[in-house]
Amino acid sequence: MPPNVLSNHDLEQLVDTSDEWITSRTGIKERRISHVEASELAAVACKRALAAAGKTVEDVDLILVATCTGDSIIPSTASVVQRHLKAWNAAAMDLNAACSGFIYGMVVGTNMIRGGTNRTVLLVGVEKLHHVMDFTDRTTCVLFGDGAGAVVLEASDEGVGVLASDLGMDGEVGHILEVPVDGTQGDRKMADPRESAISMEGREVFRRSVTKMGESSMIALERAGLGLEDVDLLIPHQANVRIIDATARRLGVDDSKVFVNIASYGNTSAATIPVALTEALEEGRIKAGDVVLLTAFGGGLSWGSVVLRWGSRVEPMAESDATLPPPDRTTLELLQPNFDFFGLPEKLT
Ligand SMILES: CC(C)(COP(=O)(O)OP(=O)(O)OC[C@H]1O[C@@H](n2cnc3c(N)ncnc32)[C@H](O)[C@@H]1OP(=O)(O)O)[C@@H](O)C(=O)NCCC(=O)NCCS
Repeated sequence: MPPNVLSNHDLEQLVDTSDEWITSRTGIKERRISHVEASELAAVACKRALAAAGKTVEDVDLILVATCTGDSIIPSTASVVQRHLKAWNAAAMDLNAACSGFIYGMVVGTNMIRGGTNRTVLLVGVEKLHHVMDFTDRTTCVLFGDGAGAVVLEASDEGVGVLASDLGMDGEVGHILEVPVDGTQGDRKMADPRESAISMEGREVFRRSVTKMGESSMIALERAGLGLEDVDLLIPHQANVRIIDATARRLGVDDSKVFVNIASYGNTSAATIPVALTEALEEGRIKAGDVVLLTAFGGGLSWGSVVLRWGSRVEPMAESDATLPPPDRTTLELLQPNFDFFGLPEKLT
């Protein structure tokens, strides 16, 4: 995670909000603001994942980057990550399923291996979401943050890994969570800067995410021939603690089996699940042979769930010393380009 923190108290100095409002409505206390591009965040996460898996960059034959806030459209962020890693044996591509991107990536990566195309897939979920955060809109600017998390996928004869999955999309209502401008649509000269910011119908997204994460989890479990009682740990996409609680309640999963770290990072879209998975391992919440259910929902509107059985090893093989360069600016200085582009936050005018 990038080191610069943007706390609720910092936000109180910018917009008409309060720590109490944000905490009670979302569970978020602080989020991170990256001083480097998404590809650099991703590269550090990838190096650490490779060390943990006991692999070298030469082993990697596919890099999948799940992101909706990558460095550039061409080259893909995956291409830049390949360059940072010097992973010259790897094919590489981006995958955009917004907050469901990591789940989509797990399914794609797993099936590339099962289909015989690849042996070692490096999958990273990364976002530099602050790029699309408009601090004149208090309904969205409190929700998101930056970050990256990575995993290494490879074949196993232990009968572990992805047991079953479910992916879905409802493009009919894609507009209720969007960044309308920055693609090819629209008139560049006429574009209102705010159309390059993330906007959404919060309540509608909330309602649909609880329904879809619940339904999708059940479909994936059924395909795996398992029931909710078999789940040792549920790692949901971290968008809002109330969405997580409502989803767990709907499924009937006890709080003690739900991993939540949203307070520290906010919604980092495709990065929430790999970051949560890493922290769950570090905290000893995943044991050998555990059944882990991952479920996500996001822009598109996309959703997906993966049921996996963890292998025999829960300790990293080694640790990488890869780290980000120290930040050269304060958090507020990192946000100045947003203020210049989208407009000054209310309390700075
Ligand atoms: C965004 C969200 C937190 C808003 O919570 P909510 O309970 O639905 O709140 P509402 O939108 O109804 O707003 C209630 C009031 O709080 C106000 N408000 C909105 N943002 C605020 C903020 N940051 N600080 C203080 N007040 C705020 C609203 O203006 C509204 O005021 P009003 O009643 O005077 O009009 C919630 O809808 C949500 O989390 N939705 C899902 C968003 C999400 O996770 N998206 C990504 C999915 S991948």
